[in-house]
Amino acid sequence: MSISGKQRVLSGMRPTGQLHLGHYHGVLKNWLELQQEYECFFFVADWHALTTEYEDPSIIEKSVWDMVIDWLAVGINPGSAKLFIQSRVPEHAELHLLLSMSTPLSWLERVPSYKDQQEKLSDKDLTTYGFLGYPLLQTADIVIYKAGFVPVGEDQVSHVELAREVVRRFNHIYGREPDFEKNIQAALKKIGKKTARLYDELRRNYQEQGDAPSLEKARELLASQQNISIGDRERLSGYLDGSGKAIFPEPRALLTAAPKMMGLDGQKMSKSYGNTILLRENPSVVEDKIKTMPTDPARVRLNDPGDPEKCPVWNLHKVYSDDSLKKWVIEGCTNAKIGCLDCKKPLIDAVLKEQEPIRDRANEYLNDPETVRGIIAEGCDAARDIARETLDDVREAMGLTYS
Ligand code: TRP
Ligand code: SF4
Repeated sequence: MSISGKQRVLSGMRPTGQLHLGHYHGVLKNWLELQQEYECFFFVADWHALTTEYEDPSIIEKSVWDMVIDWLAVGINPGSAKLFIQSRVPEHAELHLLLSMSTPLSWLERVPSYKDQQEKLSDKDLTTYGFLGYPLLQTADIVIYKAGFVPVGEDQVSHVELAREVVRRFNHIYGREPDFEKNIQAALKKIGKKTARLYDELRRNYQEQGDAPSLEKARELLASQQNISIGDRERLSGYLDGSGKAIFPEPRALLTAAPKMMGLDGQKMSKSYGNTILLRENPSVVEDKIKTMPTDPARVRLNDPGDPEKCPVWNLHKVYSDDSLKKWVIEGCTNAKIGCLDCKKPLIDAVLKEQEPIRDRANEYLNDPETVRGIIAEGCDAARDIARETLDDVREAMGLTYS
């Protein structure tokens, strides 16, 4: 729901240091598109970082600013997306607490990432209360903005699933939006007298006589209304079948279409594998890293033919090279007509070219920290206004207003 009637999109990233090309191709390019179409909220999940870094939180602060600068440098536009820091909107924590009251322990214990991460990060003690609650905090992050879509990677889909279940249970226990009837009347005014009359007639036909085609027609009528907000659309739709409008809408995961970006060693690009190229990597380091990438082991000498499918360099060509260049690689590699350094050269050029404007813009922000602070302060204020409103509704629904 949003004032502009656009669906809300929300996503967060844990601050783990400077971002790399995997973040850019896998996540940020998607954000760049989403910010044009939706009302977007992108935030730094610093509390989520604490769930694993609680023993040494000193790296978090610098990582926060590095990450925000990377976002801005690739073109995330604070004029269309709200950028903020999770801990600056403490309402997330209040909602997390309130949701925790009705969330069964077993739901959290069976989220796959819980055990997976404990095993993978075995050098850390993750048998904590905070770590178990990680996906519930994520639920609070999402639903506090009543976001409809949550762009995430595959590993996070189960977290959005949990959010849906938590929302369903919460709505069931604490019921419907307060002031529902009043809001319906206001929404009806907005769609105009004639449409409102038709809507009401169809609604009554359905509710009083069980006339299913009327319900169908009323739904079509709503779908054809261009100028109502998503919230009002949901209300009017809930009013039709008597279900009302829930306090929280159920969010949906928005899976990125981009294939996984592979790292220098052929595994998924990830900081923990040490196989990344940073978004703002020094050009000479970029060159070195690509030049020393492993290739198909069959190509010991120049006249040994190779197979691109067995070569991490080929993965980069899939991202950076056009069809004719890719054809040149396949032919040259399988017929031993090009050397691996020849093959890498156009990639070095492509990565450097991609990074140049990003590096320039990042430098502008690095030289002007005040502007960056200002952008975040504004985003935090805007986010907090919405979060406060949601919490007002939640407290009212749970009987915690004490007025
Ligand atoms: N858990 C996410 C990750 O590790 C980060 C995150 C926290 C998030 N809260 C969120 C993502 C809410 C989407 C929505 O990538
Ligand atoms: Fe890899 Fe290219 Fe060398 Fe073939 S020629 S092994 S694709 S780097």
